[in-house]
This record gives sequence, C-alpha cells and structure tokens, in this order.
Amino acid sequence: RMVMKKSKTIGVMVPDISNPFFSTLVRGIEDVLFQESFITMLCNANEENERESNALEELSRRGVDGFIIASSAISNEDIDRLLRNKKHPFIILDQKSSEGDSDTIGTDDFLGGKLAAEHLKELEHMNVAVVVPKNITQNIQRRVDGFESIYGTGFKLIEVESLSKKSGREAAKEISESNISGIFAINDEIAFGLYLGLKELGKTVPDDYSIVGYDNVDMCEYMTPPLTTIAQPIYELGRQTAEMLLDRIEHPEKEWESKKLPVNIINRFSTTHA
Ligand code: RIB
Repeated sequence: RMVMKKSKTIGVMVPDISNPFFSTLVRGIEDVLFQESFITMLCNANEENERESNALEELSRRGVDGFIIASSAISNEDIDRLLRNKKHPFIILDQKSSEGDSDTIGTDDFLGGKLAAEHLKELEHMNVAVVVPKNITQNIQRRVDGFESIYGTGFKLIEVESLSKKSGREAAKEISESNISGIFAINDEIAFGLYLGLKELGKTVPDDYSIVGYDNVDMCEYMTPPLTTIAQPIYELGRQTAEMLLDRIEHPEKEWESKKLPVNIINRFSTTHA
C-alpha cells in the first residue's frame, strides 16, 4: 500500500485505556498501522469533553494524517469544526456514532442484547435486570433495545456510575435487595465487579444469580466461575477500523463505507436455570 503523507501518524481517541476492551481494540489498530509504517498517537479521553477537544485540536495542529474516534466525549460540533471542515480523514466507532458523512464501523449491539436476553429467558429467569452506566451511549442503548425486544419492559434497569468494576461492585447491594435472579451486565468489567460485590454479600454465581457479560475480554475465562458473555470481535474491530481509515487516506473521494461486525454468545458457567 502506497500512502504518501506528511506525518505518518494517526490519532486515536478512546474513553478509558484501562478497560481491556479498549486496550485490545488499540492493539488491533496499532498492529495494522505499524505494518503500514504509521505511528499511533493514543489519547485517553477519560470521558472529559474538554480534554478530548484539546487533544483533537493539538493532533490536528501537528498534522496527523487521520483520526480514529471511539469516545463519545467528543462533540459533533468539534468533529465538524476540527475534522470534517478541515477535510481530515477520520473514522468513528463504538461509543461514538456518526452524524453526517463519514466512514463507520461497529458491531451488532442490538443482536448482542437480544442474545443475552434469549439466553436468560431460556433459563426461565423471570426477574431480570440490565446494569448500565448513567451516561448511556448509543451503542449501549442498542444493547438495551435488543434486550427489550425479548423481555418487553419487564426488566429492571439499574444505573451505575460507569462501565467499571467498581460500579459493578456497587450495584450488588441494590440487586441483593430485589427479587432479581438474572443479570445482564452491559460490559464485562461491570460483571467482574458484580462477582465481588455479590460475594461480599454472601451470594454465589450462578446459584443465586445468573450473570451474562458483554465484550468477551480475556479475563472472562479466568474468573470463577468463567463468565458467560456476548463476544465482540474486539481485536478484529481494531484491525478493520485501521484498514478502513488507511483506505480513506488513500482514496479520499471514494463512497462512504459502513461495516457491522457480528457478535455471538460464549456459554461458560455464570448462568444456570432459575
Ligand atoms: O467495556 C467497554 C464497553 O464500552 C464495551 O462494551 C464497548 O463496546 C464500549 O462501548
């Protein structure tokens, strides 16, 4: 691939690099960029809008060749002002969805939510909860919608601070005070936190609570019990994102492209019959 550009650098914005979803994603991105002799400049947004906007401005000033944006903290105005209007190649994914013209890539969030619900329903869980962060991004809303397509409105939505283990741990109390038996944690980190929180309350998984996670990060296999989860092809998502962006840099005038990668359920041992 011949890409003749100035800095051979790509800026990547993620909301939280300490979450293994994002580190695996970045590994996929970087592996492709490295192969094509590009350097990856990583910005961890920490979900702070101003920090993101400054980072974006700075990257643009330094003349990076393209941008990969996975964080919702960056506003659409900034995308227009700092990227679209300046004709910088960029691609948007995961927590950020595109408004207006751009390439996009994602995974099938609606199906993911639906698969989680179908699984809990097959196990005859009638009282179920979905644990979500309070600032719900569009991709996560689609998971909730998919879940709702099976359970209707007959489930409890539990809002926590963030997509973190800490938040999962904190949600355990509310769950233990309800009659819930099946839990869909909107990402694996929340599920891991629930494991600890429930254990601290003397509860066991899956005997007291069945838990389905989301992402399928490596750690799922190493938990006790190993976590049943919805797998996103995270590394592959990273690779294809980088490939799409490089393609855009090479062919700035080509038609916008949009890709949706599949998800599937990985059955392990964190769920059982109600
Ligand atoms: O674990 C991080 C979560 O937030 C993932 O499910 C990912 O898709 C992101 O939006």
